[in-house]
Amino acid sequence: MPAATVLLIPGDGIGAEVVPLAGRVLALLAPDLEFVQAEAGWTCFRRQGEALPAATLALARRADAILFGAVQSPSEDVPGYKSPILTLRRELDLWANLRPARSLPGHQPEFDLLIVRENSEDLYVGRERAIPGGFVAERVITGAASQRIAERACTQALHHAARTGRRPHLTIVHKANVLKKTDGLFRTSCLEVAARFPTIQVDEMLVDAAAMWLVRDPGRFDVIVTTNLFGDILSDLIAGLAGGLGLAPSANLGSGRVALFEPVHGSAPDIAGCGIANPLATLRCVVMLLHHLGRDEPARRLEAAIETVVANGPHTPDLGGRATTQEVVDAVRRYALA
Ligand code: NAI
Ligand code: MG
Repeated sequence: MPAATVLLIPGDGIGAEVVPLAGRVLALLAPDLEFVQAEAGWTCFRRQGEALPAATLALARRADAILFGAVQSPSEDVPGYKSPILTLRRELDLWANLRPARSLPGHQPEFDLLIVRENSEDLYVGRERAIPGGFVAERVITGAASQRIAERACTQALHHAARTGRRPHLTIVHKANVLKKTDGLFRTSCLEVAARFPTIQVDEMLVDAAAMWLVRDPGRFDVIVTTNLFGDILSDLIAGLAGGLGLAPSANLGSGRVALFEPVHGSAPDIAGCGIANPLATLRCVVMLLHHLGRDEPARRLEAAIETVVANGPHTPDLGGRATTQEVVDAVRRYALA
């Protein structure tokens, strides 16, 4: 296995608490990896005037994988502050966002699903302008971006089926009944691409209906492909169904080698500094990162260890327990290295 470099960007709040601990577990599971660490976020901005310093971006470009914690973003417009995670996704051209979620042990209904979210366009192009009496935001959808995300989703549908033993199944989620041009293009692009994968059962659903069915019967879904904003919202919904933000990982992938893994949660200022942040979302990111680097065996060991801790504890307060971040990490490490 060729040596690979992992960049750790802890960021702010609980990101800075969980990433160093998860990085140590990763180093134990894959001792040949090289680690570098870099700064980004609000604390970094206040210290150096930049939320994503050029040095961090340069390290990110050279890394094989990035483990990103979370950053705190001010809700009001702060001159000079730009969200480092949005900048990283754009600069590294990480156009696909994968968000898996599975039901907690013993929880009914059971589900194991993946949202493949387009990560480069839609309302996130951030083009807002004034009109008399208000503002307009531009929603950009292109055929090229829709096709490549559909291809990625189809490949994921095959992987997902291989792992779960279910049939390959993809659901295209959109709002083409109202957004006839933008989501119409997304829909037809996805259908065209999916037609090239004859083993995949393809269906489609309007986003509002998808939200309802995800709550009522998440087990009917396997892999969902959708546009950026809908994917953002629905993936937090499935995170909520699957035990909350403390358990939800995500991956940002592009066409090249580098990929960025981040928990879905933010910096959690309400619990930052208390030592009780749930580290399992970030440890699940480490599982995805290990797979990305071809380390499937330690990835499976870590995943099994996480599942054991999810089922049997110890649990941090968000899962109803009283354990600290450190105690949960220690338990996962013990199972993973046993
Ligand atoms: P949040 O995810 O930080 O917190 C929401 C709620 O979930 C809080 O009550 C928090 O304590 C809880 N929570 C989140 N992760 C947890 C964990 N691992 N263990 C236990 N409890 C956990 O979202 P919020 O409050 O909307 O945003 C806080 C800050 O984070 C904001 O500045 C926001 O801009 C930023 N943010 C950053 C993200 C990123 O870096 N990718 C993503 C989401 C928010
Ligand atoms: Mg979000």
